[in-house]
Amino acid sequence: MHHFHILKTSKVSKETNDCINIAFEIPEHLKHNFKFRQGQYINVRRMIGGEDLRRSYSIVNAPSEGIAEIEILVKRMDDGRVSRFLNDEVQLGDELEVLEPAGHFYTSYHPSNVKTYVGLAAGSGISPVLSNIKEALYQEPKSTAYLFFSNRSFENIIFRKEIDALAEKFEGRLKVIYLLSREKHFEDELFEGRICAGKLEQLFTRFPEIDPAETTFFICGPSEMIKDVSEYLKKDKKVPSLQVMYEYYSAPDDEESREMSEEFKAIPNIESFVTLIIDDDEYNIHLNSKKESILDKALKDNLPVPFACKGGVCCTCKAQVMEGEVFMEKNFALTEDEVERGFVLTCQCHPTTNIVMLNYDV
Ligand code: FES
Repeated sequence: MHHFHILKTSKVSKETNDCINIAFEIPEHLKHNFKFRQGQYINVRRMIGGEDLRRSYSIVNAPSEGIAEIEILVKRMDDGRVSRFLNDEVQLGDELEVLEPAGHFYTSYHPSNVKTYVGLAAGSGISPVLSNIKEALYQEPKSTAYLFFSNRSFENIIFRKEIDALAEKFEGRLKVIYLLSREKHFEDELFEGRICAGKLEQLFTRFPEIDPAETTFFICGPSEMIKDVSEYLKKDKKVPSLQVMYEYYSAPDDEESREMSEEFKAIPNIESFVTLIIDDDEYNIHLNSKKESILDKALKDNLPVPFACKGGVCCTCKAQVMEGEVFMEKNFALTEDEVERGFVLTCQCHPTTNIVMLNYDV
């Protein structure tokens, strides 16, 4: 299981008017714990008003950049207590509690590959997409990448300087297209609007050298955008599922979630004894299948269970079912393969048998 560590900020800089860029220095003795893959995220923990709040933030840098830091971008949300704290109060040199990197929004690269990668990012969704694109460019000298990045206005383009410098450094291998959703794009109206299936169709017409079926896509942005473009790529453009990679930064509130809630209503109403294995220790909880999730009950009983988003998005609460069965309400984080191997998100789980055993140490 991953653990929280105290890290010191080594950079705190305003990126746009509502985003802050924070880097954490990784001390020598924690280098191993904070070794990361492109596209992974970290969790930041903060006690605010007596409440243990945790939020996930994607890592912006790429492993091949060889930087002894982990860098994140935090968008300030008016109703986000952690994002407001990080944007408004954190100073250079402050110490914060940070969980080791996790997540699987990445693919494997190899120097002999001759591939095409397309990043589709909206606003703060740029972080894990940029990390992946950078790693592809560094690791695969014969591969090319496109970045279609939408922001409200030119002033709001996140990491514009870094992205422009990257396009210059990898000239001929990286093409960057900025789309503006609330401003005129003076060069070409194709580059106005948001990323959606229709816009992607237009972009493919403009860049005919991109063969979608042979391309790997990295998508991060609002849930409607992810749903729209990933379905379009898989159904209309016949892109194999493994080449359409996406990362949610919040749980979608859509038809699918509501349908799953209907499924939840159909699970048996039973009392269950659940054993949790955490850091080699066994803990027992008792709960009703129709009430709170296994994670919520464990937190109520003050057990040291890992969590962050509590919305089925971040994967921090992952465990493996060793005995019995559970119903998982939502899953925006585990792969099909992980689900088949019995992994579940405990923040979304309700027992459906009287005895259940879950292992967090896997
Ligand atoms: S806490 Fe984030 S998926 Fe469960």
